[in-house]
Amino acid sequence: MSWQNRRIVAFDKEAIHAGNRGLAIDHDNIAIQVDALMATMTLSQKINQLSGLQPAAIDGFYYAGGDEELGLAPYKMVDGPRGARAGMATAFPVAIGRAATFDVELERRVGLAMGLEVAAKGGNVILAPTINLLRHPGWGRAQETYSEDPWHMGAMSVAFISGAQNHVLASPKHFALNNLEITRFDLSANIDVRTLHEVYLPHFKRSIQEAAAGSVMSAYNKVNDVYCGEHSILLTDILRDDWGFTGFVESDWFLGTRSTAAAINAGMDIEMPGAHWYSEESINEALARGELDEAAITRNARRVVYQNVAWAIADMEVPDARVVEREEHIDLAREVAEKSFVLLKNELLLPLEDTAGLKVALVGDLADTVNLGDRGSSFVTSSEVSTPLSGLQAHIKNASLHYFRSDDDLNRLGDFDVCIVVAGLTYIEEGEFIPTLQQEAEEGELARGGDRETLLLPDSQRSLIDKVAGVARKTVVLLEGGSAIQVTDWLDEIDALLMLWYPGREGGHAIANVLFGKCSPSGKLPVSFPRSIDQLMPWDVNSLKVDHSLLHGYRLLDHQDTEPEFPFGFGLSYTTFDLGGLQVERTADYFNVTVSVMNTGNVAGAEIVQLYVSCTDSAVFRVPKELKGFGRVELEAGETADLELNLSDEDLRYYDPELNGWVLEPCSYDLQLGVSSRDLPLSSGWLFDGVEWQPV
Ligand code: GLC
Repeated sequence: MSWQNRRIVAFDKEAIHAGNRGLAIDHDNIAIQVDALMATMTLSQKINQLSGLQPAAIDGFYYAGGDEELGLAPYKMVDGPRGARAGMATAFPVAIGRAATFDVELERRVGLAMGLEVAAKGGNVILAPTINLLRHPGWGRAQETYSEDPWHMGAMSVAFISGAQNHVLASPKHFALNNLEITRFDLSANIDVRTLHEVYLPHFKRSIQEAAAGSVMSAYNKVNDVYCGEHSILLTDILRDDWGFTGFVESDWFLGTRSTAAAINAGMDIEMPGAHWYSEESINEALARGELDEAAITRNARRVVYQNVAWAIADMEVPDARVVEREEHIDLAREVAEKSFVLLKNELLLPLEDTAGLKVALVGDLADTVNLGDRGSSFVTSSEVSTPLSGLQAHIKNASLHYFRSDDDLNRLGDFDVCIVVAGLTYIEEGEFIPTLQQEAEEGELARGGDRETLLLPDSQRSLIDKVAGVARKTVVLLEGGSAIQVTDWLDEIDALLMLWYPGREGGHAIANVLFGKCSPSGKLPVSFPRSIDQLMPWDVNSLKVDHSLLHGYRLLDHQDTEPEFPFGFGLSYTTFDLGGLQVERTADYFNVTVSVMNTGNVAGAEIVQLYVSCTDSAVFRVPKELKGFGRVELEAGETADLELNLSDEDLRYYDPELNGWVLEPCSYDLQLGVSSRDLPLSSGWLFDGVEWQPV
């Protein structure tokens, strides 16, 4: 370490958690107030706390839990992971794109902005973040979540929740194992206890224990043949008894509740969006049949009232409506988009120089299309959206830009110095699957969405790329989509490839800034891009039984020792970096890891250092390596900084189903650092004997 290097802490908990009202609740005092209030409530008043007001949203908001007589203002809930889905709002890049920044400080700012816009519209609960693990890239709602990796997911979720909960309650969703879209209402996600705790729940646990999420939304699907909405192991044993969750659980909409007594007894507190199973009549019938007792109703109602009092919902200030889509949020949306793009290939072509004489062709209908992501519950409308075409038109001052639609005569493209093709997916090919929309879509109207059976581009998009690459001197592909796309078939035909995800309302401006070098791309893949779907686990979008194992994504590819097209954590830059000076020190119950990062190129850029851990001689099966830390380092040309990551012993444990608990195993641990899951030049070996740690 050189003494004068700037020092960066990879996950500065104090900074990330700042202002999170969920962490500032005086639980002893609130409990006294709530118990006093509960003592005055009639059974009917308690039952009224257990369901939403009505099936239809009111100005985008769903109401629940109010009672004027008791001085309880209603919860006003609104989606979602891309922004406030109530009228116009800042449409941010989709979550998977934000995850590609690997920038928790930035995601906290996004949470702050979204929470503020929800509050300014009169809301007090944001139904976000979606944190279902990306088990297979074909999942219809992949765009809504952050990652295939639980550690990465947990870090991004904690950052978002802590930001949003400066203003409103967050509601991480969907608890749990909602990993397939079209059959989500009926499928059973089958899983063993170890895989559940080690892979599919850690990010929910962090969201609750570290970020004090105010509520949780349960999932539609079953887990081991029991609906999540009536799953007492998930909702009571794990969520409350094990993790200490003090908030409330709301169901997913309509089919998220499947019973009266079973759901209430299991620990599901609020039926959304309206009362059916939890109507006063149904509950009284269940009481009369002895399926339910008043204590369970009181327990669930108390959790709903508890958050109402703890968050002082009745006194929540409503910020000035002018904060919605304010300049600061628009600039933030553009910053996130710029940092979300992942440069996957660049044959000495990018960045382009905006000089007179440079002839640029922009090709494809998507270049002139507002493509913000799926049309499901996370959809957000913004007053203005920059497309690739409008962004480039606004940016280019000296070069010439000519736009070709997909079915224009593309034979002239040979006259241009560079051809930029915008290709990819839309809400038609992927997204939340809403059967009613499907019926409308049958008439060719609205979105279909749903899971993708293939990772290939639609034929029209593939043939567009082929056509352009066949005549152009140089071809850049800008790829829009919410997850991994199989690019292997046409990658060799082109000179540069930039993954845009769904880049939000400022996407076009961000694209221009990156293509013309105003900033360097710095995103890294939050999902593995396989060469072929056959490299992944069996994938049946109509399946009603989905088996889960410790292996998916990069863990599966590592275990099979198969080479993806682009590995998890991969992304190029316009500059180059060097890592060195690794130092690993033991302190009480964690490793303090420091590494120097140098920008060895001649433009500014950002590197994302990743820390993976392998257990080489474990007594139990372990996946080859697991991500256990990351840090983003932004550097001027020639600059060096020291990045500090802390790796707690807790993160090294495995879950032992026999003990029903976590074990820090005496064995060898190999800490590996690098810039992608397949590029880990630095390592530090340690042996744990059960008491002491020794470097090896
Ligand atoms: C949907 C989604 C959920 C959303 C809710 C309200 O079915 O699964 O994510 O928050 O309904 O729109």
